[in-house]
Amino acid sequence: MAFKERVFSGVQPTGNLHLGNYLGAITKFVALQETYDCIYCVVDMHAITVWQDPAELSHATREVTAAFIACGIDPKAQIIFNQSQVAEHAELAWIFNCVARLGWLNRMTQFKEKAGKDRENSSVGLYAYPNLMAADILVYRATHVPVGEDQKQHLELARDIAQKFNVDFAKSIHAHGFGEAFFPLPEPIIQGPATRVMSLRDGTRKMSKSEPSDYSRINLTDDADAIAQKVRKAKTDPEPLPSEEKGLEPRPEADNLVGIYAALSGITKADVLREFGGAQFSAFKVALVDLSVAKLGPIGAEMKKLMQDPLYIDSVLADGSQRAQVLAAETMKAVKDIVGFVRR
Ligand code: AMP
Ligand code: TRP
Repeated sequence: MAFKERVFSGVQPTGNLHLGNYLGAITKFVALQETYDCIYCVVDMHAITVWQDPAELSHATREVTAAFIACGIDPKAQIIFNQSQVAEHAELAWIFNCVARLGWLNRMTQFKEKAGKDRENSSVGLYAYPNLMAADILVYRATHVPVGEDQKQHLELARDIAQKFNVDFAKSIHAHGFGEAFFPLPEPIIQGPATRVMSLRDGTRKMSKSEPSDYSRINLTDDADAIAQKVRKAKTDPEPLPSEEKGLEPRPEADNLVGIYAALSGITKADVLREFGGAQFSAFKVALVDLSVAKLGPIGAEMKKLMQDPLYIDSVLADGSQRAQVLAAETMKAVKDIVGFVRR
């Protein structure tokens, strides 16, 4: 059965949005709105799977919203909202808690990383997090999900949940007139030269909101001076840049900076090396600073402007939530019938 094509993705309001979020996810969100109906969600319910200070959580929720708008997502043409305003996410997540198997969740590497050694003390929510993520996507029966590389495994789990639901309830799905399958198997969209942006301090670690050193990442709200300093201090090796992509393979820091340059300017890594092959890092970094400031400066400035008007931000979220809820409620009505819940 053909499903209506629809894009869904989410970003957690947990601290500083950085270049990894921007290149791995948000630039894709912006591009996809040209061809799809898109729903972009600030996933505050995912955020609280680890402790969040309440005042910081609401601030960060508004800041991610401001970033979406500042980067060019049109809140009128698409839907921008925060997860907790649409209760259907939690409702469907419960059903998925009963579809997904313990064995599936036990394989999730992000849980293992985040729970670390203190597994017994992590929240139940952190463990069940991928089921909520599947519900986010499938409550809109979304077909395409732009994310960074780190979310690939969670997307595969969402597909497994959709598939098992379709099989387990096949008879009921058919009996209620939904044909062969109720949920689409959502496709990840993970493309381009910066699906995994690495830390500026260590080319083997992911750039992350939670890394203690601010020098490890470029934040969307960094000013030109901060960007310049961070790029200048970024770890490199003593060799000049190679002329061929193969030369980047054993050099994670060089690979990362070239990937960032390529993604920011919309060209391939091979193109970047055609221009900078043989150059010293000092020269390349000057060009990278200029490019980063030119691309990120206006976004940071616009975010700051938007953040001065929280009433506007809240109105965007309220409007988006209302429009999202209409779609989610329709799915939940059908799901309840399929599962056998008696409803009003
Ligand atoms: P999060 O900050 O975990 O909510 O991530 C929001 C989006 O940014 C997701 O699609 C992630 O896959 C993506 N993302 C986060 N960190 C990176 C990174 N270092 N490189 C590329 N994409 C990333
Ligand atoms: N788990 C994602 C992250 O940490 C955020 C997220 C939550 C998401 N729900 C989603 C991404 C649904 C895509 C689709 O980055």
